[in-house]
Amino acid sequence: MLVPFGTDSGTTRLIAKKIAKQIKARAGDGVATKPVNVNRASAEDLLGYRALILGTPTYGEGVLPGIANGTDEAAWLEFLPKLAGKDFTGKRIALYGLGDQETYPTHFCDAMMDLHRFFSDAGAELLGATGTEGYEFRRSRAVVDGRFVGLALDQHLQHLLTDERIDAWLDQVLPLLLEVCEAPAAEV
Ligand SMILES: Cc1cc2nc3c(=O)[nH]c(=O)nc-3n(C[C@H](O)[C@H](O)[C@H](O)COP(=O)(O)O)c2cc1C
Repeated sequence: MLVPFGTDSGTTRLIAKKIAKQIKARAGDGVATKPVNVNRASAEDLLGYRALILGTPTYGEGVLPGIANGTDEAAWLEFLPKLAGKDFTGKRIALYGLGDQETYPTHFCDAMMDLHRFFSDAGAELLGATGTEGYEFRRSRAVVDGRFVGLALDQHLQHLLTDERIDAWLDQVLPLLLEVCEAPAAEV
């Protein structure tokens, strides 16, 4: 299972590692689980897996991380064009996003929606919607029909809730992701 993330200041990398470690603890060594920064990944890296967990922070005023959106590091903004025209049919993708609901209460974790739209347009099955209870924000583009399209995490205001949120979310998405996982030998 691949765990690709975009990041600027490194927090999403820590979360990707945490998620990968949890998956290993739950699923064992039989499932190769690899966090990878999208600024070092190729389209083929992603296409080599049937199950992916994608993570992104939100930058600017509710946009994906990337140099044109004000981050120092290249991230999803530079990576998504490499996937233009690629077919993700048959793949399952769970999303999580990092944001700051106190400083950006009207754009909380917005960028998760950009990944959601991109990968559902590319044919993937998107998993992992979660409720909005327990958060304090005013608006988020990542909320559809009253639920976030993935797991929303806030390492600024609510970092103490992160481990339990990841735990509950993996209970929900991991069985569905493992269902489509290939044998490790077939993975890139
Ligand atoms: C310039 C800047 C703009 C941000 N804009 C938003 C935003 O619009 N919405 C949001 O939820 N969080 C926003 N954040 C908070 C980041 O998403 C949050 O700090 C995240 O944990 C950073 O992840 P990273 O360390 O992986 O880059 C912003 C942070 C910075 C520094």
